[in-house]
Amino acid sequence: MSCPGTYLYHAHYGMQREAGLYGSIRVSLPDGESEPFWYDYDKSIILADWYHASTYEQAAGLSSIPFVFVGEPQSILIQGKGRFDCNAPGIQAGLCNATNPECTPYALTVIPRKTYRLRIGSLTALSALSFEIEGHNMTVVEVDGHYVEPFVVKNLFIYSGCLFTVPLVEGRVRHYKWEVKYEFKSPDCYKKLAITINGRTPGPSIIAQQGDTIIVELKNSLITENVAVHWHGIRQVGTPWFDGSEGVTQCPILPGDSFVYKFVVDRPGTYLYHAHYGMQREAGLYGSIRVSLPDGESEPFWYDYDRSIILADWYHASTYEQAAGLSSIPFVWVREPQSILIQGKGRFDCNAPGIQAGLCNATNPECTPYALTVIPQKIYRLRIGSLTALSALSFEIEGHNMTVVEADAIFNYYPNHPRRNPPTVPPPGPRWNDTEPRLAQSIAMKSHKGYIHPPPQTSDRVIVMLNTQNLINGNVRWSINNISYNLPHTPYLIALKYNLTHAFDPSPPPDGYNFVNYDIYSVAKNVNATTSTGIYRLKFNTTVDIILQNANIRTPNNSETHPWHLHGHDFWVVGYGKGKFDKTKDPKNYNLVNPIRKNTVAVHPYGWTALRFRADNPGVWAFHCHIESHFFMGMGVVFEEGIEKLGSLPTSIMGCGDTKGFHRP
Ligand code: C2O
Ligand code: CU
Repeated sequence: MSCPGTYLYHAHYGMQREAGLYGSIRVSLPDGESEPFWYDYDKSIILADWYHASTYEQAAGLSSIPFVFVGEPQSILIQGKGRFDCNAPGIQAGLCNATNPECTPYALTVIPRKTYRLRIGSLTALSALSFEIEGHNMTVVEVDGHYVEPFVVKNLFIYSGCLFTVPLVEGRVRHYKWEVKYEFKSPDCYKKLAITINGRTPGPSIIAQQGDTIIVELKNSLITENVAVHWHGIRQVGTPWFDGSEGVTQCPILPGDSFVYKFVVDRPGTYLYHAHYGMQREAGLYGSIRVSLPDGESEPFWYDYDRSIILADWYHASTYEQAAGLSSIPFVWVREPQSILIQGKGRFDCNAPGIQAGLCNATNPECTPYALTVIPQKIYRLRIGSLTALSALSFEIEGHNMTVVEADAIFNYYPNHPRRNPPTVPPPGPRWNDTEPRLAQSIAMKSHKGYIHPPPQTSDRVIVMLNTQNLINGNVRWSINNISYNLPHTPYLIALKYNLTHAFDPSPPPDGYNFVNYDIYSVAKNVNATTSTGIYRLKFNTTVDIILQNANIRTPNNSETHPWHLHGHDFWVVGYGKGKFDKTKDPKNYNLVNPIRKNTVAVHPYGWTALRFRADNPGVWAFHCHIESHFFMGMGVVFEEGIEKLGSLPTSIMGCGDTKGFHRP
């Protein structure tokens, strides 16, 4: 045999194959060569269907006049084992015995954390099957003897004669019990209500390994507020209902209720979680998720220690006050935050004028600045994430340059006394409104040489999204192509699955704006900006380009930076540009060779950013500006794709809007 891989053999005479004459052939590589994926054990699983009628009867029927079709098979066999219901009516006594060891279902006993290469083949006589492993997504790496660009599926659609290799790891199940509530905290020395998880903000870190199942049992003890938690960066392949975006994928969790999130972390990396209801994130409900590589694999950089640092901004006003101000006439802007928090610690000046006595205490241990004690000559991997409500930050470590290796930094720290503060005052960073260094950093990010996944070279649909600030019925709002987004009362996922057609606006938002006449450099007239709950419906498995186009806001000579985040996918960042995107000229300069894949990207003032992604994750996914108040003011859209591919939804996500009464605990 010339090529390695998995093959099948079977009878090729009459219809004998379906009588059981088949098996598998595995061809391994020559000594010294190895496959582009790793596994500890190698198993074949052949799927077949099984008829109780003989092949003679069937063949005769097929060639008779009148024609007699074979009908549906009586059983499906997995590696030669199936289950027929012996109590079915009309079964002759003595022929069917449910306790016969010959029909003990096929079971693959696995050792946790070991990788099993499953060679899944179908030799059904008739049936096209959908193969699923409960609690797992499958990454297909080989098809019919050829290596493929790995792709992730929940259901493997497998036709007769097809063969797939899927490495499978039975991960550990990591169970977390979280209680979410309001507590008085002083993260910047100023006492204020914060939302905590098990008494902490940031909440506990989720630390897992690729393939693990995360179960978070969340109890909402906020007394009078709903909640929902989003797992930022986790694609939720096969579990779109646990994405945690209130109004999109689930109903909010009511005060006093518990909700169980259950999903698989299928890729290594650094992720975040945070509240996705109202503006609760900025009240402190967030934390980090670290997913390590499978045993035996290693990252393309070295480190001795691993640390997460989440940056956030902190307001002394409550999220309620802020949300109410944003939706008032006249509009009350949230303004600049009172503090910046590094890993939940900041410093507010307690001597600032007008601070009520007893509220601010500079010696409170809760506001001791975050310090990372390091051992000289050791390498620390810093996973630096930002969950600011508003601020775009510039992060600097005095005396160091940082090497960004993914979205993570790695560096050597020079000897310094662990309790000594930096010797000098922090040097000034780039000015906040100086966009050049930010654009330069954006453009500098390319895929690591050994880890390039080139994007599809063409796209099936191009959507240009003009970001503007408008006045709608007297309210200040953000709009995309003149439509300001409103969350419906009934989550889209449920509305679409149950055909609740009145739940949202059926007309989709436009794929572009008036390219010719719109001047992105001046204050928009936008007389016709409006609000809508309409969504973009994408054709499953197509490639979609999104161009985020920035423009002037309501104040002359002003354009802001917006970090856009896509749920459920990674996208390739294929281009950045200044000014107005040109549909014919600019795509010619896209980087289709080594663009990075991300889930959040900035659109710079008066500029544009182009993304490409595959609509290959069945579900309903939010895409929005990550600035808390901007999303609240309508800066977002929603995509739907492949909804028909989803099985039944868990009822735990239901109970609100048109789904009242659907919830069965
Ligand atoms: Cu991290 Cu929809 O957000
Ligand atoms: Cu924004």
